[in-house]
Amino acid sequence: MIPMQQQVSLGQIPAIRPGIKQAERLHVAIITDGNGRWATFRGLPRSAGHRAGAEAARSVIEAAPALGIHTLTLFALSAANWKRPAAEVNAILRLLHEYLLAETTHCIHEGVRLSILGRRDRIPATLRQVIADSEAATSRGTRLHVRLAIDYSAREAIFSAACRFYKATELSQDSFSQVLSEVQRGGSTEVDLLIRTGGEQRLSDFLLWECAFAEFVFLAKRWPDFTGGDLRAAIDEFHQRERTRGSLPDEVLAEHPNRPTLPQCFHYFRACVCALRTFEGREVIRRFRPARRLFSRSK
Ligand code: FPP
Repeated sequence: MIPMQQQVSLGQIPAIRPGIKQAERLHVAIITDGNGRWATFRGLPRSAGHRAGAEAARSVIEAAPALGIHTLTLFALSAANWKRPAAEVNAILRLLHEYLLAETTHCIHEGVRLSILGRRDRIPATLRQVIADSEAATSRGTRLHVRLAIDYSAREAIFSAACRFYKATELSQDSFSQVLSEVQRGGSTEVDLLIRTGGEQRLSDFLLWECAFAEFVFLAKRWPDFTGGDLRAAIDEFHQRERTRGSLPDEVLAEHPNRPTLPQCFHYFRACVCALRTFEGREVIRRFRPARRLFSRSK
């Protein structure tokens, strides 16, 4: 965890490195934790912490494109949060409603696409409508894709996707991702960097499938205090990490060219023999026979 004193406070966000390529741009996901404690520490009601959290979200969204982020996913309300007192959950839902109403026009001007991840059947119908309007109005935004997770549970989304996938004809990880993206809405793209504020170090049922190879940065800072400068510091840390996804660093791989070992050759040979013994294998041999005869006649 980056200690509190090293975390960056307010500051100007320098412009994006010139010439940054699309492929280098990142998906950053944030667990926006600590609103309640932020408010309690100041003697304010918890809802004031959530309001301050929405402000922090606004400034982070503003900073994101210049930091090379193409997708920013924020955990605004988890499915588990329904266990909180109804007054608090309702205050968060009202806040999200207001936030979407207030931010949609701004997002259109800034080229920001808004999507909402999560269930829609338990939230108020009025919020459902605002979400649909906001998503439609901002759908052309290409500068940044902001995904707000509302009533979201990764485990639930994966389970629903698995139930639907059961009947699929094409069984691959890519097609599963596609089903997951339809089930949870708002897409399903691999997370590069996962940030959690508020001092806890856990994933809390957030983007379990998409975080398979994510780098994690945990911060003691509470979400309302998080700034664009903190986001920049987290991204700088991300760029210092070596991401091999289970392989080896490029320079090490270059020293060890990938020649098959003797047991591997033996394994491939056996696999070929087994394949030729199958019905399709015998068909291949049968089809080659006339060609072989032709070849021997021409001699
Ligand atoms: C976590 O803090 C925050 C939430 C459960 C919900 C609300 C989140 C926001 C308002 C920020 C994002 C907002 C928008 C509009 C994108 P907590 O209540 O769990 O804090 P605690 O751990 O200190 O109690």
